[in-house]
Amino acid sequence: MNTMSSCEEAAQDPLPEIRRPRLVPLRGVPLPDIFLQNWEAVEKFQAKPTDLLIATYPKAGTTWMQEIVDFILHDGDPVRCRRADMQSRIPFLEFAYSGHMPSGLDLLAKLASPRVIKTHLPFQLLPKSFLEQKCKMIYCARNGKDNLVSFYHFDLMNKLQPDPGSWEGYFQRYLHGNVSYGLWHDHVKGWWESKERFPILYIFYEDMKEDPRREILKVMTFLRKELPDAAVDNIVHHTSFQSMKGNPMSNYSTVPANIFDTSVSSFMRKGEVGDWKNYFTVAQDEAFEDDYQRRTRGSALRFRTVL
Ligand code: A3P
Repeated sequence: MNTMSSCEEAAQDPLPEIRRPRLVPLRGVPLPDIFLQNWEAVEKFQAKPTDLLIATYPKAGTTWMQEIVDFILHDGDPVRCRRADMQSRIPFLEFAYSGHMPSGLDLLAKLASPRVIKTHLPFQLLPKSFLEQKCKMIYCARNGKDNLVSFYHFDLMNKLQPDPGSWEGYFQRYLHGNVSYGLWHDHVKGWWESKERFPILYIFYEDMKEDPRREILKVMTFLRKELPDAAVDNIVHHTSFQSMKGNPMSNYSTVPANIFDTSVSSFMRKGEVGDWKNYFTVAQDEAFEDDYQRRTRGSALRFRTVL
């Protein structure tokens, strides 16, 4: 007779190897094919006026901003912010994977309002209901060089992303927009230009590193939230890189090891500005700069790559 519970049996089963997804263009934007199975439902998603959206290009400090917002909405109380892991507290709108993980839409359906929602979609692919409902949106942008280094390491360890291959090959693909969510320049510019027409707070990762308290206060003002100084101190402390790295509710350590292979790289990797200098060759830096100048000509959007 088998006396093992199904949980014990599951615990003994080796985790299945994941087949990495392919990128498939959706209206010209490459996305992992696993996300596209749900696309019709994502596009029809009905936002509520009280929904708050956090949008980013992947690896621009999304989780950091999510933690800051959750802390602001919960008055700087670390106990309430440890109620669940990040994926459940602030679901990832377009996430879909059939391998026993709830989709973003599944998680959102269970969430009480006011909801906070994460997306990496470029502005032009955002479900229209967010605009119709005049939802507040926070966009966090990170300089393209550090963003690239962070994305490369993430793709090495995250089996739900295509295999990044060699650093040089990845560098070229990033510059040509052949990575998940397409061209970084288009993403940051698309949201930058949209902030003139919609309620978007545009925040820079580098500014958050330089003075987290100042940027947290900006987010509070945008959310019309006032908190005593001690609560703001708490937020600064609990959303620091070191605090979040040690917090299982924000460091993604709850993701199964066959998906996030932390022996390759960790989710909370370095959290710095200027790490690109440890990876870019002189030629890559020149190529990046040339491309950046060409693509951002005429735009007031500026990034700092060192502090
Ligand atoms: P690195 O890979 O450069 O370390 P996202 O949440 O969008 O996936 O972004 C992840 C990046 O943000 C990682 O960058 C991660 O270390 C960094 N990060 C997460 N929390 C942070 C924090 N509190 N302070 C600074 N960086 C943080």
